[in-house]
Amino acid sequence: MANDISFDTPPSVLPAGKQNIPRHVAIIMDGNGRWAEKRNQPRIMGHRAGVEAVRGMVEGCAKNGVEVLTLFAFSSENWRRPKQEVGLLMELFMTALGREVKRLHKNNVRLRVVGDIEGFSKPLQKRVAEAQALTQENTGLTVVVAANYGGRWDITQAAKYLAAQVQAGQLNVEDITPERMADAMSLADLPEPDLFIRTGGESRISNFLLWQLAYTEFYFSDILWPDFNIDALNNAIVSFATRQRRFGRTGQQVEQNKTRTTSC
Ligand code: IPE
Ligand code: IPE
Ligand code: MG
Repeated sequence: MANDISFDTPPSVLPAGKQNIPRHVAIIMDGNGRWAEKRNQPRIMGHRAGVEAVRGMVEGCAKNGVEVLTLFAFSSENWRRPKQEVGLLMELFMTALGREVKRLHKNNVRLRVVGDIEGFSKPLQKRVAEAQALTQENTGLTVVVAANYGGRWDITQAAKYLAAQVQAGQLNVEDITPERMADAMSLADLPEPDLFIRTGGESRISNFLLWQLAYTEFYFSDILWPDFNIDALNNAIVSFATRQRRFGRTGQQVEQNKTRTTSC
């Protein structure tokens, strides 16, 4: 599905045969600090450069026909960083939201923020609410920013929601199914992530979308986030396109099913 989008740069030219575009790409944007340290700059410079990379990624995903892009911006564990870095990150979040939202809106992007937003300052919460309200009717790429987000928090809040329904007599314990849990999780209304990308060389999930990534294809890149450009994104999408997703079936079953669906 092509998004109705009109960014300034020409559409990306993807390698031939790459038709299998992920509907939902979820990214752990890691390596900002090391990017800056390599340049003898303060870590915040890496975070600033990281915002530029986000801009490129939004354009790249929109042009490739990706429907949802989820970006891990601040984890529930990132509060453990030095106070100064956390403060600067909050400032950056505030200014970047204010600056980018008009551009996103102009390009028909719908912005969503997921996570325990109440952990943020009131002015930041207000800015988040305004950005979401402004862009909520847009029909192009959906950009989800995971902020003060943790996969364990997400599962816990879903469990609490269902427990409250049981307590109120609206739900039987026997009716709690994986589907009902899924409906109570963040991003429930969106397709599950097809492609997970982590930049920065680490091979871990760091409490990102623990529930939602159950059948997602993983792609790890050594590139530090500020250097992760459209070519790097295209490489990840090409890698995704070559994979066979079996969801528990055999490879043969998947192949047979493909022939059946394409021949009718
Ligand atoms: C990711 O980059 C951004 C956030 C966690 C906010 P890092 O800041 O973790 O960069 P490294 O891993 O220290 O290089
Ligand atoms: C994960 O990166 C969180 C974000 C990118 C927002 P971290 O750099 O915080 O992850 P760890 O601590 O190395 O696992
Ligand atoms: Mg890191």
